[in-house]
Amino acid sequence: MENGSFEITDKDIMGRIGKLKTPHGVIETPTLFPVINPNIDFIHPRELRRLGAQGVITNAYIIYRTNNLREKAVKRGIHDLIGFQGPVMTDSGSYQLSVYGDVEITNSEIIEFQNIIQADILTPLDIPTPPYVTRAEAEEDLKTTSSRLKEAKKIHSEIGDDRLLVGPIQGSTYCDLRTNSVKTAESIGFDIYAIGGMVPLMDNYEYSTVTEIIIEVKKCLSPSRPVHLFGAGHPMMFAVAVALGCDIFDSAAYALYAKNDRYLTPQGTLKLNEIHYFPCNCEVCSSYTPQELRTSEDKERLLAIHNLHTTFTELDTIKQAIKSNTLFELVEMRIRSHPSLLEGWRNAIFKKDFASTIERFDPSYKRTFFYTGIESCYRPAVIRHQKKTLELKIENREVSISFSPHIDAEFYFKPPFGIYHRALKESYPVGHAEIPSIIEAETIETGLKNLKEFIEKNKHVRITLICDTRWKNLISEFFDQIPTNVSFREVK
Ligand code: GUN
Ligand code: ZN
Repeated sequence: MENGSFEITDKDIMGRIGKLKTPHGVIETPTLFPVINPNIDFIHPRELRRLGAQGVITNAYIIYRTNNLREKAVKRGIHDLIGFQGPVMTDSGSYQLSVYGDVEITNSEIIEFQNIIQADILTPLDIPTPPYVTRAEAEEDLKTTSSRLKEAKKIHSEIGDDRLLVGPIQGSTYCDLRTNSVKTAESIGFDIYAIGGMVPLMDNYEYSTVTEIIIEVKKCLSPSRPVHLFGAGHPMMFAVAVALGCDIFDSAAYALYAKNDRYLTPQGTLKLNEIHYFPCNCEVCSSYTPQELRTSEDKERLLAIHNLHTTFTELDTIKQAIKSNTLFELVEMRIRSHPSLLEGWRNAIFKKDFASTIERFDPSYKRTFFYTGIESCYRPAVIRHQKKTLELKIENREVSISFSPHIDAEFYFKPPFGIYHRALKESYPVGHAEIPSIIEAETIETGLKNLKEFIEKNKHVRITLICDTRWKNLISEFFDQIPTNVSFREVK
């Protein structure tokens, strides 16, 4: 395996498990690089590794402008400086640029510096354009970012070694600029593509815009590329981000939240002061009561350890869901953690181009289909099943469709799928689908829409619907007028 190579081993939705080779070892994605502040030894990287970190990220710009750090890093390398022998990614100071307006370093200087200190993954000095700036500003920034990416690539090629180079994607909230940014970056050629300028959106829980931008980027980027999402650190959103095709995260959230007495869970953030019982069994939560933790002198560090534990446990949960092809079920649980996240996911699945994008990627065979709510109606398994139903060639002049699985018929009906042939009773998806008998009106309509289209497509066939009075009423209500080729056989 060559450095920079990315090998995908498992897939679900647009998420994947992959192996990324770096000079200091192979990383299994999806994963998160915790941010290390080179100035303060808050949690030693040895501890980060023990808690699940495969790599870390630190800021080359902070090291560069701090004399004693710079000297040590130049002399002994970044791994020795921070005491971590695994893969180290360095950021360029772009984030400082976005917060303070400027930095005292050029793009070429910071790339060369990251090379000198022997970082495994190098980042150019891109411009993290904030959301909702004017189009002119976003275009202007992107022009600068693009020329810096070209320059970074040239320097990286001249170095001629095998470190990984990151290609940041910018363009603010303009989807076409994001597309242009991807095209430019991909034509230059990078080892990792990083979606940038997202921190303000995530801080404001604007997940609708977050999902839109991720989809826009993924739509035009080759699926073989590893994708990094800059600054995403809340475990609540990992399942959604992975499902949309993000592979690597980096964040200081574990530490920043700990500083403010915030306790992370995959269902959202809790205030330590309001916790009566810990919903976690990590080394911290099983050794301290909430009251003991509140009054501990080591509170901040212990909270950070819990936050990291929760972060890596959630990433393992996601990887397991990818392996067992149950990522939809996990995502549909996690989006219920916060209405903004629910909105973000709905914004994704309601989009036609997303539906066709996930249809290209989502595995067509899985073992189970657990219905969790109306979002389940938008899974490719449902859409593909309905498409196939309408492509069926019906040879017989009469067919029967039963609304009860216990009555013999040629076809059966099961929302949200619609109709299915009896030969599929034991097959994925429809035969394996677990659907509660009490469901939302929208889910029934999704199934009835398929029935209606089937009837319209097969006008030459006499169709008998075998159902009880409740279904007969629902069907009659759904069809303004019962088509002439349809009759009912009412059963109890
Ligand atoms: N950290 C958070 N956002 C960004 C970004 O857009 N670019 C870089 N280089 N680092 C970031
Ligand atoms: Zn815990």
